[in-house]
Amino acid sequence: MSKILDVLDRFYNLKNYNSFGLNVVASYFANVDSLAQLKDLMQSPGFKEDRRLVLGGGSNVLFLDDFFDGLVIHYTKTGWEIVEETENEVIVRAHAGTNWSDFVDEMVDAGYHGIENLSLIPGNVGAAPMQNIGAYGVELKDSFEKLEAFDFQTGKLVSFDKKSCDFGYRSSFFKHGGKDRYFILSVQLRLKKQGQLNRGYGNISDYLKQQGVENPSIKDLSQAIKAIRSSKLPDPLVIGNAGSFFKNPVIHQLLFEDLQQEFPKIPSYPSGTSMIKVPAAWLIDQAGWKGYRKGDAGVHEKQALVLVNYGNAVGREIFALAMQIQLDVKNKFGIQLEPEVNII
Ligand code: EPU
Repeated sequence: MSKILDVLDRFYNLKNYNSFGLNVVASYFANVDSLAQLKDLMQSPGFKEDRRLVLGGGSNVLFLDDFFDGLVIHYTKTGWEIVEETENEVIVRAHAGTNWSDFVDEMVDAGYHGIENLSLIPGNVGAAPMQNIGAYGVELKDSFEKLEAFDFQTGKLVSFDKKSCDFGYRSSFFKHGGKDRYFILSVQLRLKKQGQLNRGYGNISDYLKQQGVENPSIKDLSQAIKAIRSSKLPDPLVIGNAGSFFKNPVIHQLLFEDLQQEFPKIPSYPSGTSMIKVPAAWLIDQAGWKGYRKGDAGVHEKQALVLVNYGNAVGREIFALAMQIQLDVKNKFGIQLEPEVNII
C-alpha cells in the first residue's frame, strides 16, 4: 500500500493540467510512470470505477465544475525508440507521456516524414489517437501503426491496430465504444525516410514562397506550419484555450446549395459522397462572435473556432458561451455544431 500512496495526492489543483487554465480540484491525483504502478493504483482508495479520468496534457478538455470527485491519472513516461527499420521506413514507438510537439520536432530533426504537418499541436502522445489529431491536410491515422493500452475492465494489456481504432475526423473508438475504458501507454507510427511533403493545404505554399523557399525540406515545412499556427492560434500558456472548440460540420450537399444561395462566399471542402465540410470558424465569425468577450470567457480575436479563458473564467462560463454560439449558428444557418473538446 505504501507504494501506491507515494504516487497519490489528495485535493490536487489541475490548473496546470488543463490548457483552459481552469482552477479545478480533483479529490485524488496520481502521476504514474509504469504499468506496474498503474496496476497498483487500481487497488488504491481513490480508485472508483465511475470517477476516473486519464489526463495527458489536458489540451482538449473543459471541466464544467471546479471539483472533480474522483481520481485523475497522469502518465509521465516519456521518450521514443525505433522498433523496426527498413531501407525506406521506420516504426517508432513513443511513450504516451511524451509531449507531442517535442516528439514531432525530434522526428523532423531525424528526417522521418509523416507527422511534420502536425507540428506544434499541444498535448501528449497518448492523447493523439483519442481524437485522431489533424492539421494542414494530415491526420494521425495516416502514419498510425498500432498502440498499446491497459484495459481497466480486464486489468490486461491490449494492442490496437489501425482498424480497431476506428479513426474518423477528430474521432476514434476511444471517444465512443472504448470511452473511459483504456489507458494508452504507447503509440507506434510508421514514418518514411523520404517522402513527398504535403503542402497543398491553405496558405502553406504561399508562406514558403514569401520566405523565398523553393524546395522546402521537411524542416522548412514544419517551421512554416509553426509560424502559420502561431500567427492565429493562441498559446495556451498565455491565454487558456483548447484549440478548436467545435468540429467542422459535415452537411448534405443539398443543404449546402441552399446556404450558398444566401451566402455565396461560404467556404467548403468536399467530404465523401454528397457531403460537404463547412468551416465552423466561418459560421461563428459570420454570426458575429469573433472577438466577443464576457467576463474572462471569450472567442479568440484571430480564430473564431477557439474559445478562450482570459484569466479567471470558470468552466460553466465557457460552456455557456459555447452553447450560445451553438444556438445562434443553428438559428442562422440550420447547422448543429458539435463540440470537439471533451466536456467533463
Ligand atoms: N475562418 C473564418 N474566420 C475565422 C477563422 C477562419 O472565416 O475566424 C475561415 C477561413 O477563412 C478558412 C476557414 O475558416 O476559409 C478554415 O479556417 P482554418 O484554415 O483556420 O481552419 P479550421 O477549419 O478553422 C481546422 C482544424 C484545426 C487545424 C486547422 C488547420 C478542426 C475542428 N480544426 O481548423 O485544428 O489546425 O484546420 O488544418 O478541424 C484543433 O483541432 O484544435 C485545431 C486547431
